[in-house]
Amino acid sequence: MINSTSSLDERQFNFESNSLEQTCEVGSKIALMLNFPSCVYLIGDLGAGKTSLVKSIINSLGYVGDVTSPTYNLIQEYQVEQGTVYHMDLYRLEDPGELEFLGLEDLWANHSLFLIEWPEKGEGLLQPANIEIRLNKIFDSAPNHRNIVLQHI
Ligand SMILES: Nc1ncnc2c1ncn2[C@@H]1O[C@H](COP(=O)(O)OP(=O)(O)O)[C@@H](O)[C@H]1O
Ligand SMILES: [Mg+2]
Repeated sequence: MINSTSSLDERQFNFESNSLEQTCEVGSKIALMLNFPSCVYLIGDLGAGKTSLVKSIINSLGYVGDVTSPTYNLIQEYQVEQGTVYHMDLYRLEDPGELEFLGLEDLWANHSLFLIEWPEKGEGLLQPANIEIRLNKIFDSAPNHRNIVLQHI
C-alpha cells in the first residue's frame, strides 16, 4: 500500500514504500511531477533505494532500455521525449575536482533533468537543486520499509 500525502502548499510530498516494486511505483508518480529543466538531489543511505527510484523515473519518462548505475563513470545520459536526463552517482568521488572534467556547466545550460545521488560529495560544484528527494529507512521498522519525501526548494 502506498500512501501519498502532500502538505497544504503542495511543496512536499510524502510516500511510503514496503518493497522495491512499490518504490518503482513511487518513481513513476514522481516522473509525472518533474519539469524540465530540473536538478534533483537524491539523499539517503546506501541501499535506501536511490538508484532503484532513478531507474523507475527514467523508464517512466519514456526511456526504453536498461538504466545502469553510473558509479564508476559518475554520469550517464538518457534521451527522452522531454529532453536529456543526466543520472549522476558521486558515491565514489574522491576528489571533487574530478567533476571539473565533466563539463557540467555546459550540460546545465541545456534544458535537462539532473538526478544526482550523493550530491553531498560534490558540494559547491553542483547546480543547486530545485527538488530534493530523501529516502529514509526507519530505524526499527520492517527492513523493506522506506519513507520517501519529495521537497520542492
Ligand atoms: N522498499 C524498498 N525500496 C527500494 N529498495 C528496496 C526496498 N526494500 C528493499 N530494497 C532493496 O534495497 C536495495 C536498494 O538498492 P539501490 O536502489 O541501489 O539503493 P541506493 O542507490 O540508495 O544505494 C535493493 O537491493 C532493493 O532490492
Ligand atoms: Mg545508488
